[in-house]
Amino acid sequence: MNQTMQSQPFLWGSATASYQCEGAWQEDGKVESMWDRYLHENGYENGDVASDHYHRFREDLQLMHDGNQNAYRFSLSWPRIITDLDGTVNEKGLAFYGALIDECLAQGIEPFVTIYHWDLPQYLQEIGGWLNRKTCDAFVTLCRVVWKAFGGKVKHWTTFNEPKWFTFSGYFNGNYPPEHRDAQELITCCFNVMLANAMAVREFRAEKIPGEVGLVASYETFYPAEDNAACAAAAHNADNFANLWCTSSCAKGVFPADLVQRLKEEGLDLSFADEQALQIIHDNTVDFLGLNYYSPEFVTPCEEETEIVINNAGKNFKRKSLYKVKGWFATVRNPNLKYNAWDMGIYPQGLYDTLKTNYDLYHIPVYITENGYGNYDQMENGVINDDERIEYIDGHVKALLRAKADGVDVRGYFVWSAMDLYSWKNGCEKRYGLIYVDFEHDCRRIPKKSYYWYRDAIAAGFSKEGRN
Ligand code: NOJ
Repeated sequence: MNQTMQSQPFLWGSATASYQCEGAWQEDGKVESMWDRYLHENGYENGDVASDHYHRFREDLQLMHDGNQNAYRFSLSWPRIITDLDGTVNEKGLAFYGALIDECLAQGIEPFVTIYHWDLPQYLQEIGGWLNRKTCDAFVTLCRVVWKAFGGKVKHWTTFNEPKWFTFSGYFNGNYPPEHRDAQELITCCFNVMLANAMAVREFRAEKIPGEVGLVASYETFYPAEDNAACAAAAHNADNFANLWCTSSCAKGVFPADLVQRLKEEGLDLSFADEQALQIIHDNTVDFLGLNYYSPEFVTPCEEETEIVINNAGKNFKRKSLYKVKGWFATVRNPNLKYNAWDMGIYPQGLYDTLKTNYDLYHIPVYITENGYGNYDQMENGVINDDERIEYIDGHVKALLRAKADGVDVRGYFVWSAMDLYSWKNGCEKRYGLIYVDFEHDCRRIPKKSYYWYRDAIAAGFSKEGRN
């Protein structure tokens, strides 16, 4: 890791992802992503236009600058950059990111770049996507191309965003493409993604790319629903299931031994984990962890059949979210917490615990790469009074500052999201932005109350308290 990282100012920013905000799905040589195909084929709401960031990024960066933000986390669209299995580079796609990065730097904003935030090219999905090791090689090719183009200008790189969510949603929960529900496929994908991460880190080091390389994990804090040994065991099962295979393998180079044992006992075939791949994972760990924290989970043991209910419909959802995995754990609602319309519990202490747990486990710098509040924001007389979001962010930033004061080497905080955007299966009505996007009227931007609040909070105190 570059020494300059240690003296950088604390990063206060906001985040987006390519598919969720760019739009321009067919422009300037971009090819189809797996999400384009899946959403079009099924007639679901899609990100064809999204927040139109592709055409409006200068305005967006101006707003971030005026909002006192000194960092912007965004991702690169792989199908915009590499258009086929032969690795053909689309210069216009690269040029877009070149302009975006230059604009960040001109505005005094650190670009914090995610290389993969779920929009796999359809041509790779057709050969099996993350089930196929060729996708790992293709990912390294992508890294090589973007590091050659932007290495030096960008100092903070992350390989993957939330390996847990896209693998589980695609291969276990079945609510993301390709909508499979197959544990064997799931663990194969998970392994291949962690291998691709390590192969990319190896490349980063071999090519001496300046800056730091990390991975963004969706860290779910699991708490025993009751104070007893059975619930504590369920919480550990859940941690292994959802978090540790990812964080431990990328930060320590090993998968948890008790998880591996358990998967074998359940009859899963782990022969994909060959010695050579395990060695690559072992030898190439990340410089830092990005942690996306939204809400906690409270768990009990579960001997009932596996059942997964995910609320992608907000207030129109007739049930409550539920995650039950036979023999592992089941989530339960905590009556003491406030939940939003998508069943997300609000618990700032969870962010503190996320930071503390990961730092104590891995002793590498951490960033909160996403934290935010999804809501049905309404514009009234041209203003958006999103007080609940302000309360949420304020509580979570205080938890972060507490963790920092307690010795955690946390180096940045990113609100999800910079502006309203397309939220995958939740569409555009679940809004997270500091800036309202009027999807009905040319995507015009209207800063919300939270935008001004964040701007003033950064100026007044966050940056002072957050400084190293
Ligand atoms: C995590 C993901 O990285 C992002 O894509 C998603 O929209 C947010 N969480 C909100 O659910």
